[in-house]
Amino acid sequence: MAEHSRIVILDFGSQYTQVIARRVRECQVYSQIVPYHTPAKEIAKLNPKGIILSGGPSSVYAKDAPHPDRGVFKLGLPVLGICYGVQLMAHFLGGKVEHSPHREFGHGQARVTRKCPLFAGLGERMDVWNSHGDRVTKLPTGFRIVATTANAPFAAIEDAKRKFYGLQFHPEVVHTPRGRELLENFIYDVCGATADWTMGSYIEEMCANIRAQVGADHVVLGLSGGVDSSVAAALLHKAIGDQLTCVFVNNGLLRLNEAETVQRVFGEHFRIRLKYVDATARFLRRLKGVKEPERKRKIIGNEFVYVFQDATKQLAGGKDSKFKWLAQGTLYPDVIESVAIGGNPAALIKSHHNVGGLPKNMKFKLLEPLRELFKDEVREVGAQLGLPREIVQRQPFPGPGLAVRILGEITRERLRVLREADAIVVSEMKAADWYYKVWQSFAVLLPVKSVGVMGDERTYEDTCAVRVVESQDGMTADWVRLPNDLLARISNRIVNEVKGINRCVYDITSKPPGTIEWE
Ligand code: XMP
Repeated sequence: MAEHSRIVILDFGSQYTQVIARRVRECQVYSQIVPYHTPAKEIAKLNPKGIILSGGPSSVYAKDAPHPDRGVFKLGLPVLGICYGVQLMAHFLGGKVEHSPHREFGHGQARVTRKCPLFAGLGERMDVWNSHGDRVTKLPTGFRIVATTANAPFAAIEDAKRKFYGLQFHPEVVHTPRGRELLENFIYDVCGATADWTMGSYIEEMCANIRAQVGADHVVLGLSGGVDSSVAAALLHKAIGDQLTCVFVNNGLLRLNEAETVQRVFGEHFRIRLKYVDATARFLRRLKGVKEPERKRKIIGNEFVYVFQDATKQLAGGKDSKFKWLAQGTLYPDVIESVAIGGNPAALIKSHHNVGGLPKNMKFKLLEPLRELFKDEVREVGAQLGLPREIVQRQPFPGPGLAVRILGEITRERLRVLREADAIVVSEMKAADWYYKVWQSFAVLLPVKSVGVMGDERTYEDTCAVRVVESQDGMTADWVRLPNDLLARISNRIVNEVKGINRCVYDITSKPPGTIEWE
């Protein structure tokens, strides 16, 4: 493997550590996160061009505060401390940190008071994002102030000789609009790193790591056909070939042709070992007569676990199974979100069962090769691995599938009706070049009958709602102002072509107060 320029990030537990890593990757420089206590000698072996100290939730003077090896400041390397990181620098190098009476949180403005390579080309004022309770109150020898904010006279500091820099605010978050340029200044100009790293090289590294981790063991992956598990499958397959087996469960609640597409792409095209389980009958039996949304979700979540367990038991075939690993397509935002949800029960508005949903008693070690990546990076990995656009760019689809889009009881007939209507929405959205521009576009089947007229006949049939939303992350959303002629085509086709629907409505509710899915 060619030697890339590398930036090492010491992780002090900030929720933004991975965001810093991502920003460095965006500069096409390899970033490596290491635990805060990694010995300086080990860091030196990685031969980095510079070191970034992440933020963190502690106070530097707290009893259990995470402290780095002092040697980190003696490696002769540039160091950038962010938030907790700058407080550590001050604390370790002879300055002073105190609890601030004015907690700074949210938007602020930094005024650059002295010329400094970090702020080169960024002007005199810069919008910044703060999130800290402590602040530096006395500088260590050799340091000077380069920027201030209203509540932090030491918003940015430097020791130009030793190339030590510290920022009280967070340059890595999007709320610091020019933070990326600031990080570029550090990475390229202060550290002298070169933009020599690509997603292709990252894929090679991830594969090498996977191989080192699993050795000769076998891995099982639950493939849903969604972006994350699909990319995980393609990546693992590249890394370990036939040591990977994917289990694809058809719960009977999938969209039209979904099961066929997954089998075609992964089984035929990639030649991945694929265990296809058609559990339609099992799921529908359990869902018979169930109308209540949360109960539907619980039943589907539980049933999935049983089916998946049965399938892996069959694969594993006993105690000395070669299947030691369970892979999941967990992404970085899932990690953050499930932590947030775990800490705050009120955040659990609907029970999502994908993260951490599998039972603890499954005797697998967990393999999460995409854990450091963000959604768009995962899509890029997928594209580079040769996954088709229809998979890599596909819209999110809920784990409980069409069950949460059929209001009321789920029957085979109602599934048929919704599948046909949904396929029309998808095909018209694609034909009009809108499908990949929106977050989600789908049909919902309502248990609401209304009167219509078709030819000379009176009809009395169900209603279909069409939902098309734009969103950044699914947390908030707005309905899309689609062109009227596209809406007209969708509506005409659904009412004319789908037996069982005689009325089509467009959902114009944003989230909040609505949710994206209807159940
Ligand atoms: P809501 O309906 O809560 O949905 O506004 C937000 C986003 O999450 C998707 N969603 C799910 N995804 N398992 C999933 O993997 C689920 O149980 C689930 N429920 C909702 C939904 O499609 C939207 O993108």
